Amino acid sequence: MDQATQLRQLAGAQEGTPGAAPKASPAAHKNRTCIVSVTSGKGGVGKTNIVANLAFLLAGMKKRTLIVDADCGLANIDLILGLTPKYNLYHVLKGEKTLAQTIINGPGGIKILPSSSGIQEMSTLSTIQKLALQDAMNTLSTRPDFMLIDTCAGISENVMYFNMVARETIIVVTPEPTSLTDAYALIKVLYQRHAKKRFKLLVNMVKTPLEAKEVFLRMAQATDHFLQLAIENLGYVVYDENLPSAVKQQKLLAELYPQSPSIKCLREIAKRLSQPTSEKTDDGVMSFFN
Ligand SMILES: Nc1ncnc2c1ncn2[C@@H]1O[C@H](COP(=O)(O)OP(=O)(O)O)[C@@H](O)[C@H]1O
Ligand SMILES: [Mg+2]
Repeated sequence: MDQATQLRQLAGAQEGTPGAAPKASPAAHKNRTCIVSVTSGKGGVGKTNIVANLAFLLAGMKKRTLIVDADCGLANIDLILGLTPKYNLYHVLKGEKTLAQTIINGPGGIKILPSSSGIQEMSTLSTIQKLALQDAMNTLSTRPDFMLIDTCAGISENVMYFNMVARETIIVVTPEPTSLTDAYALIKVLYQRHAKKRFKLLVNMVKTPLEAKEVFLRMAQATDHFLQLAIENLGYVVYDENLPSAVKQQKLLAELYPQSPSIKCLREIAKRLSQPTSEKTDDGVMSFFN
């Protein structure tokens, strides 16, 4: 049995077992969460900055937004926001703290579930830990409209898991050739081994819209030719020197300078993401929620 099937079965078996969260009421079901993973083959392509600013923009559109920092090895969402959380995912998984005690408030009404830096056992979550996380998610009294998961780069077990629980997967690339080959490898593993079929490509740090288009076409041609898989074009974010300087100030660029070029691009992406979609959700996706 592959890992995805195993996890799906475990998630199903959890319902109705002692200690499992009570079934959500019909009213709670009305509030469906769109889980979006933001991931990449190569590190340093801009995932964390994209997640943080996108969350702020979605919150500005009156969408309840929760960031899950899933870069369990080297967490840094709180760092770029200048926050110092007391507890993190590690405490939740050990059963020491509830999600409500762990989630902190960020700018513009965003909520953040921080991760822990450098704790070895967090870099590969066990099946028990994954179930504990799912259980904890089901205790949330108000579900967010959007859950943005900032994953680590690469094709580790954790990356696979967090991409599997997400309905939408955003693959971040830059025009650098190594970022493209690594992203292709990630898509290939998620598609062939985990039956994930929906991928949205976001091209970051481009100089012109034409460059973004060329990068998207190169990737789309490769997945189409070698995997017979069509990927979606989510858009692009221009290279913006304001971004590194906002990071140095530990402030969000979307808050500091909402009209800066990269934030204008991200605003378009936020709009696109919040448009309702009628596509089926059962393409190898399990959810955090029962
Ligand atoms: N569009 C952009 N323009 C300029 N610099 C960027 C852009 N996106 C990201 N960066 C910079 O790239 C670096 C890596 O970004 P980060 O979000 O930490 O990447 P990742 O989470 O993928 O490792 C940071 O210094 C960030 O400020
Ligand atoms: Mg990061």
